[in-house]
Amino acid sequence: MTKKRVLSGVQPTGHLHLGNYLGAIRQWVARQADYENYFCVVDLHAITVPHNPAELAANTYTVAALYLACGIDPTHATIFVQSHVSAHAELTWLLNCVTPLNWLEDMIQFKEKAVKQGENVAVGLLDYPVLMAADILLYDADLVPVGEDQKQHLELTRDIAARVNHLFARNQPPIFKLPEPLIAKEGARVMSLTDGTKKMSKSDPSEFSRINLLDSPDEIRKKIKRCKTDSIRGLTFDDPNRPEANNLLTLYQLLTGKTKEAVAAECAEMGWGQFKPLLTDAVIATLEPIQRRYNEIMADPSYLKNLLKKGQEQAASVANATLERVKLAFGFTLP
Ligand code: TYM
Repeated sequence: MTKKRVLSGVQPTGHLHLGNYLGAIRQWVARQADYENYFCVVDLHAITVPHNPAELAANTYTVAALYLACGIDPTHATIFVQSHVSAHAELTWLLNCVTPLNWLEDMIQFKEKAVKQGENVAVGLLDYPVLMAADILLYDADLVPVGEDQKQHLELTRDIAARVNHLFARNQPPIFKLPEPLIAKEGARVMSLTDGTKKMSKSDPSEFSRINLLDSPDEIRKKIKRCKTDSIRGLTFDDPNRPEANNLLTLYQLLTGKTKEAVAAECAEMGWGQFKPLLTDAVIATLEPIQRRYNEIMADPSYLKNLLKKGQEQAASVANATLERVKLAFGFTLP
């Protein structure tokens, strides 16, 4: 039986944090043996907001190394950099020409980011979800494991795929496969440490709002010490008036691997002063082996470069075949 194909990616902007890990990368690792996997460092997405050229390359290698450090096994997955496979940019153009503008104007992330940026919004920010659709459709991905915030982009990807199939392959085998999102039941929306109603995000100006995968034990201790809590004694999940309690207990649950019931019972009588050191230990214990492997990988840059080169070759062979299929369906001549 052939394995289902998975594609996903992370942007090399800022630091990867616990939300990226628990919402996405940890799911990739957990199921990697069951699927044929493509994990991409989406550097073309990283320039849709103003970026620093001096940091882009370093961040790109950091993200690729973190994929490996978090447990992605190159025997199960093709790891590559989006800009190394030019079919991503080329398919985006073809899809741009069949995607109605108002579909993009409705995207929540675009509206949020556009508001943050004021007047200087680049066309690329609006077009971001079309590039994401190209990433997924080029690989005929069956499944796309992501956090909750990407759900709308996945729906758009399916709409674009269906539209292309309808316009250019009516009564014929479809050009694109419609991908399914794979969103975890728990961890798909890790919230900010400074406001339990806002998602943890790379772009939050406050470092105290997130725990980065490469934070030192000292930084982790400080951040958890300062994180927002409430003044109610006894910690509980699922109370709409206690978003911070829900978030921090969920983090503790996911990082220790305990069941929700076990955590609820353990923490029912606790105060924050008792709970915070437990959470701190759980975060440090999770990140310590990841950071150790990350440092080993970064100590040998030629290993990472070779791996990404092999990844580029494998990814391009799949992506170029899809691109050719789409170009033929659109009526282009081939050289
Ligand atoms: P990005 O780089 O913002 O985030 C990478 C992954 O982390 C998840 N995530 C979270 N999950 C739980 N809680 C959070 N607070 C949290 N913050 C982020 C995201 O849902 C994502 O899965 N557009 C994508 C990158 C992308 C992509 C793709 C993903 C480009 N092309 C193709 C899948 C397939 C993004 O900005 O992710």
